[in-house]
Amino acid sequence: MIRIEKIINNKKQFLDLLLLADEQEDMIDKYLPDGDLFALYDSDLKSVCVVLPLDSKTCELKNIATYREYQGKGYGRTLIGFIAGHYKDIYRTMLVGTGDVTAILSFYESCGFEQSHRIKNFFTDNYNHPIFEGDIQLIDMIYLKKDLLIQINESHEQEK
Ligand SMILES: CC(C)(COP(=O)(O)OP(=O)(O)OC[C@H]1O[C@@H](n2cnc3c(N)ncnc32)[C@H](O)[C@@H]1OP(=O)(O)O)[C@@H](O)C(=O)NCCC(=O)NCCS
Repeated sequence: MIRIEKIINNKKQFLDLLLLADEQEDMIDKYLPDGDLFALYDSDLKSVCVVLPLDSKTCELKNIATYREYQGKGYGRTLIGFIAGHYKDIYRTMLVGTGDVTAILSFYESCGFEQSHRIKNFFTDNYNHPIFEGDIQLIDMIYLKKDLLIQINESHEQEK
């Protein structure tokens, strides 16, 4: 059975997973202390994510990762569905920023996010080394946003 827990203590114990989504530890240290960390277990640990409050209406999904061997099994989507429900009475909008990588953009779009804006040269300006996703070098950060009042059901096609 799937269980999702909010982690309060010793968030760094999940560093191996967090590094899958954000490979520079000092960048993770910028949001982990103030971020809400959620861990998804299906018998054992499969995925984590970190959500950071930005202002009274907006939060940002700063990190989401599933262990490589368990990717594509629906855990990431389940975790996003859970946090969207968790924050819908607190924030109006959830943002997420990612590299310009079609597979990841499609993943977020299928979870109800839509593309919002772009921060030019984010990855080249903020990381101390070039970041690659497969053979694509990440340059700009693409922001997507999700209206938390619109909850998407399990089939992720229909909105209610
Ligand atoms: C992105 C990520 C968190 C998704 O988690 P997940 O548990 O694999 O997600 P799901 O199984 O719910 O996948 C949802 C959809 O995205 C697709 N998808 C997920 N990751 C993908 C990838 N790397 N390449 C291609 N498709 C991918 C899945 O095929 C699935 O599509 P479908 O439901 O239409 O079949 C996971 O792939 C991951 O940890 N990646 C490495 C870290 C990362 O890049 N994080 C995001 C940084 S912004």
